[in-house]
Amino acid sequence: MRRGWCWVGAGLAVVTLSIIIAVPLSLMRATGDFKSTFITKCERFPGKSARHDCLGIWQAFEQAYVGKDPCQVPVESYDHLLTTSPFEPACNRTMFWSKTKDLVHEFTMHRDCFLTAEDTLLGFILDELTWCGKEGSKETFTADCPGWTTCVHNPVRSFWKRVSAAFADVACGDVTSMLNGSITTPFSSTSIFATIEVKRLKSPNVKSLNVVLTTNANAVTNCDNASLKDLQRELDRGINYSCKEVNETKIKRCISDPSIPCRACW
Ligand code: APR
Repeated sequence: MRRGWCWVGAGLAVVTLSIIIAVPLSLMRATGDFKSTFITKCERFPGKSARHDCLGIWQAFEQAYVGKDPCQVPVESYDHLLTTSPFEPACNRTMFWSKTKDLVHEFTMHRDCFLTAEDTLLGFILDELTWCGKEGSKETFTADCPGWTTCVHNPVRSFWKRVSAAFADVACGDVTSMLNGSITTPFSSTSIFATIEVKRLKSPNVKSLNVVLTTNANAVTNCDNASLKDLQRELDRGINYSCKEVNETKIKRCISDPSIPCRACW
């Protein structure tokens, strides 16, 4: 009988010991993996200024959310990061988008005549990643973080809002936006493009906003769409507006054939 209890005791000890070892290990893995992904992507960023202070950028990044309740990370938390790694103006090459993520990035991946926020250093590193902190912890977590709509001030959503504002602030010359003609509201009033980016485009720095409205066999609208009228009304006076319906096949031809000049892509 006593022997039986010994085995139970030993079993409990093993389980407790595994928990004591495994929990901190899994936490370390969360931060370690995320940090190494961050630094590796930063160092491999295919920019012209090849050398970045990737460790400094990481430290400025993590201080925005580490140790905080993941629903209490306001947009301003990333101000220091944007000062550490500011955006350079890309006059006439700035490309905004809404609901066209895959197509626009396939395009800019093959054509450097246009640049999206996700093609900048910070955007490139963090696109498609999820992260958050926890009160009383110095770790970065990648699991059980609040979703995009769970709470407004979550680390990922606040980051993209801050990045989008900074990206729009340096927009200059003729800017482009790829919008989706296969949905009923290509210019959605709740999108980041509408709520943040359009509001920050200022004349005379920005001369024009040119909408590329992508169409395909499922297209449900055109440049006369009511939401696009809202977009025109939202624009700062002095910024010229244009809209062109462009079939996706034409854009895809430009993706696969670099000999087609960018100006002929739409
Ligand atoms: N869950 C997770 N991420 C989301 C969600 C969601 N429910 N909704 C939006 N996002 C993030 C994703 O990264 C998504 O790809 O925002 C991105 C863009 O969402 P859209 O609604 O397609 O477009 P919009 O809100 O207008 O944002 C696009 O913001 O990324 C910048 O400069 C970029 O011009 C672009 C604009």
